[in-house]
Amino acid sequence: MSGIDNLKKSREPSSYSNELFNEQWQLYQKVLFNGYMGHQEIYGILHEWLINDFQKPFSMLELGCGDASFTAQALSNTTIASYQGIDLSEAALLIAQSNMEHLPCATTFAKGELSEIVLELVQNQQENFDLILGSFVLHHLSFEQKDFVMGKLSHLLKNGGIFLLIDVFRSENEKREDYLKRYLEDVRKNWSQLTPQEYSLVEEHIKKSDFPETQEIFYSLATKHGFTKKECLYHDALDTTQMLCFYLKGKNSCK
Ligand SMILES: C[S@@+](CC[C@H](N)C(=O)[O-])C[C@H]1O[C@@H](n2cnc3c(N)ncnc32)[C@H](O)[C@@H]1O
Repeated sequence: MSGIDNLKKSREPSSYSNELFNEQWQLYQKVLFNGYMGHQEIYGILHEWLINDFQKPFSMLELGCGDASFTAQALSNTTIASYQGIDLSEAALLIAQSNMEHLPCATTFAKGELSEIVLELVQNQQENFDLILGSFVLHHLSFEQKDFVMGKLSHLLKNGGIFLLIDVFRSENEKREDYLKRYLEDVRKNWSQLTPQEYSLVEEHIKKSDFPETQEIFYSLATKHGFTKKECLYHDALDTTQMLCFYLKGKNSCK
């Protein structure tokens, strides 16, 4: 199945500031393509990992896929057999659909709140994935929502399936206010191609919508929900961005 014909009705949480991703998608693209969030390096590592570790056809679900531009690059020349992307932003999903077109795999896109869509997927028991990716999206959820979503992911993965989390993290014992201060100082210093107006939009979005957890908290959630092995594939110099891998028990059928 291809396309976004099956887009679901949007049910946005009131706390989430989605304007940045609906009306200001070009600003987010500017941030990505200037390398301010580390996508080039992280998705380069992801590409190598997919090439080396997934030798048989695999199915993938992406939470908060956005325009999937970096995912599409990471999936090039891999054994991807089917891809499903979920996001709140219709504007982003339309671009994602075109970015994924060159890949020789079935693609499906669903618009809506990811905790509701993962619940529906579990209830319908239609899909089982080899790999689930959440890239810079879970930090937008409350702790309770993260816990809920992690719990559902273990039901959506096949035996030996993998959840790959790319996201921003607080340092151990760091409070959210201190994290925000530290992160925004870096933005002010290093995101030099942003205009003052663009900087204000980014700052407003981060203050309103970013709720990162520590690595330790994610490791505990993973254990609670049945992931038996954890691995850190990337950690940036600023001690904010990481790529963590969580493995469900069983043999991974894609190797
Ligand atoms: C920072 S962007 C990340 C996009 C892409 N995954 C990346 O790594 O660049 C966050 C994305 O998650 C989506 N998003 C945020 N909260 C969401 C939610 N509760 N349900 C579904 N999508 C959500 C936004 O619309 C946006 O596209």
